[in-house]
Amino acid sequence: MTIIPVSGQAFAPYDVVVGRGLLASAGERIAPLTRGRTVIISDRTVADLHGPALARSLEAAGVQTQIVAVPPGEGSKSFAELERVLDRLLEAGLDRKDVVVALGGGVVGDLAGLAAALYMRGIDFVQVPTTLLAQVDSSVGGKTAIDTPRGKNLVGAFHQPRLVLADIDVLATLPAQQVRSGWAEVLKHGLICDAPFFDWLAGPGAAGAKGDPAALEWAVIRSVEIKSAVVGEDEKEAGRRALLNLGHTFGHAIETALGFEEAALAHGEAVALGCALALRYSVREGLCPAADAERAEAVIAAAGLPTRLSQAGTFGADQLLALMAGDKKAEGGALTLILARGIGQAFVAKGVDAASVRSFLIEEGAKA
Ligand SMILES: NC(=O)c1ccc[n+]([C@@H]2O[C@H](COP(=O)([O-])OP(=O)(O)OC[C@H]3O[C@@H](n4cnc5c(N)ncnc54)[C@H](O)[C@@H]3O)[C@@H](O)[C@H]2O)c1
Ligand SMILES: [Zn+2]
Repeated sequence: MTIIPVSGQAFAPYDVVVGRGLLASAGERIAPLTRGRTVIISDRTVADLHGPALARSLEAAGVQTQIVAVPPGEGSKSFAELERVLDRLLEAGLDRKDVVVALGGGVVGDLAGLAAALYMRGIDFVQVPTTLLAQVDSSVGGKTAIDTPRGKNLVGAFHQPRLVLADIDVLATLPAQQVRSGWAEVLKHGLICDAPFFDWLAGPGAAGAKGDPAALEWAVIRSVEIKSAVVGEDEKEAGRRALLNLGHTFGHAIETALGFEEAALAHGEAVALGCALALRYSVREGLCPAADAERAEAVIAAAGLPTRLSQAGTFGADQLLALMAGDKKAEGGALTLILARGIGQAFVAKGVDAASVRSFLIEEGAKA
């Protein structure tokens, strides 16, 4: 078991606990944060698989527990489910000194975190992330949000958790595509700022992409360390936090072009492809040695993740470019991209020339 403290100037410090069998001892850790009562927010799939173990552990620690389960999937990041969850918290009679527990993937974490941020002007919440993506990414950093028909994550709040419990054992029930999808964010962390970690991911660590618990444990620990270091420096994404968007401007454009609902590509698959594109674009601009981009591509592909546009579908260059420029991370019409000078050396590139990105996309197989 490893405890990673997360701290920053703008929020109260909290611990991320990473280890095996944490669900069984969660009650002891969460009980001191409550006044004897909590509501677990989950989705129906996770509530069935892991809700009883968590509820038992809380009850054994003297915490009266209810579970509220939303339908699985991105559709639950909605005003309708937010309203329903808030109503259930009111019905349960939680007050400002109680805590909410988010048990699930990024959907549940984002929804429950926003509900906690809003409930009675804000109550504490604990994250118990159950997908690899949630363990290495969404449970840390305090971003919460729901979607609207106009786009993803457009309504939200910064609300840091009180505690994060990342139990590697719950990943055993996760479908293989979800493991690979989370693995893309792990690879991303190595590509951003940790070449030795990327070497490990390319070698012995590669077993994590196939679900090996020991490899997953170290991958989660190192990812949380990297994400928390970046977030601690810059909670609200003014500068360095943007590095965590490596692969995401390309990736979001690809996801949006395909349509989220069809889920043709998991988020992490789009991010993996986006990372490969960002590195190749960096090579094209003379910023990055070709060997680094080729190596990154080989490692991403070996994890069963896509690296070429043709693996995702058919795209128009102008369509992708418009989606990239429309990304809320774009500033003043100019394209901001996360590029790299090599593996482990990502940087924020502002004012990237849209015409050169368009030419690059065509070289990559997008339609002119
Ligand atoms: N807040 C942030 O900083 C941040 C960062 C990245 C992503 N996100 C958000 O995270 C969301 C995606 O999260 P996700 O990929 O975890 O998706 P998810 O929460 O929808 O979970 C994926 C699927 O796996 C199932 N599942 C979860 N845990 C399981 C387990 N242990 N065993 C079996 N099945 C399990 C779920 O029921 C669901 O069907 C997106 O909405 C994205 O916007 C937020
Ligand atoms: Zn992501």
